[in-house]
Amino acid sequence: MSSTPDDAVDPASVPARTLTNGDAMPAVGLGTFGSDRYSTAQVAEAVRGGLEVGYRLVDCAAVYGNEAQIGQVFADAFSDRVVERDDLFVVSKLWNDSHGAEGVASAVRKTLTDLGLNHLDGYFVHWPFPNHHPPAADPDARDPDARPYVHEVFMETWRAMELLVDQGLVRHLGLSNVTVPKLEQILADARVRPSLNELELHPCFQQPELFDLCVAEGVQPIGYSPLGSPSRPERDRTPGDHVDTEHPAVVAAAQAHGVHPALVCLKWAVQRGQVPIPFAVKRSQYVSNLRAVTTDPLTDAEMTALTQADAGDRLIKGQVFLWPGASSWEDLWDVDGSTATWGTR
Ligand SMILES: NC(=O)c1ccc[n+]([C@@H]2O[C@H](COP(=O)([O-])OP(=O)(O)OC[C@H]3O[C@@H](n4cnc5c(N)ncnc54)[C@H](OP(=O)(O)O)[C@@H]3O)[C@@H](O)[C@H]2O)c1
Repeated sequence: MSSTPDDAVDPASVPARTLTNGDAMPAVGLGTFGSDRYSTAQVAEAVRGGLEVGYRLVDCAAVYGNEAQIGQVFADAFSDRVVERDDLFVVSKLWNDSHGAEGVASAVRKTLTDLGLNHLDGYFVHWPFPNHHPPAADPDARDPDARPYVHEVFMETWRAMELLVDQGLVRHLGLSNVTVPKLEQILADARVRPSLNELELHPCFQQPELFDLCVAEGVQPIGYSPLGSPSRPERDRTPGDHVDTEHPAVVAAAQAHGVHPALVCLKWAVQRGQVPIPFAVKRSQYVSNLRAVTTDPLTDAEMTALTQADAGDRLIKGQVFLWPGASSWEDLWDVDGSTATWGTR
């Protein structure tokens, strides 16, 4: 049995969310996308440290290229009795090159093997398009086979995801990077409804309509890039992007609580009702991120001021997933509820 480190947070003190079937999940998790900046070994070490200090939700994805290393961390943590499998909530994501029945079946097998698990707590369709690109693609890179969203084609992938629940390989299905019209259509046609939706959420990008739809439909929002992704690669930067940790409402609350502005973003996220999944490889950061949601909540006035920070500023635009003939990255996002960019088979 390993001893608990001095900087650990009691997992029982971390708020939880209850999903529609009654299952609980932690209200904060650890991101694992090292991007171009952090090696797989650094991310794996952070996951080990994260488990030791009390994280129980880990957000993985096949495309992050580190599931085998994280699987080794899980195996070691189980054998060292840092945590038991049943106390973890592990999610992963189907990459865009594995849509379709055969793709889903083989991708989930690979992810389960890499992570060393016999089931996932959540499995997301990472993007609603089969469009993909090499890792670390240039922002101007385009997949010549890329296609717009075709609902019937997406539902073939979803039917294969539903089978994974039937087979006991996955407990909860999730969507990611969908819009209000796509979520509405998928909810209308799903046999197994999504329990989770992973979307970009931070004070300067709050997606209120999509957030409210998720809540109304019993789909738990998971907020990615919750700190405004300050270390994202150049290809995901656009001149004029807002910096959440410099927003006056965030800075004012940080000063009032005597914490880094990043921690205000996390308190806000958990108090609003989404599950933030901050990424950090520095121990002081991931410990303070977890601790922030267990102590010293924001006041109602601070929450109201932060609501007004929303600038509608999407950071992760996804332009590398555009199809030939698309006019701008906005074509991926059904702006103003329009489905005009959707394709037909
Ligand atoms: N579903 C999707 O399509 C999707 C898309 C993007 C991300 N995600 C998931 O969401 C996770 C988080 O998103 P993200 O990595 O883009 O951004 P993020 O969590 O908003 O930002 C992470 C960066 O914030 C800094 N940071 C972390 N904790 C801090 C603290 N306490 N104080 C000050 N700075 C702190 C670190 O920068 P430094 O290292 O420079 O210190 C870290 O690299 C990803 O790892 C991934 O799991 C999912």
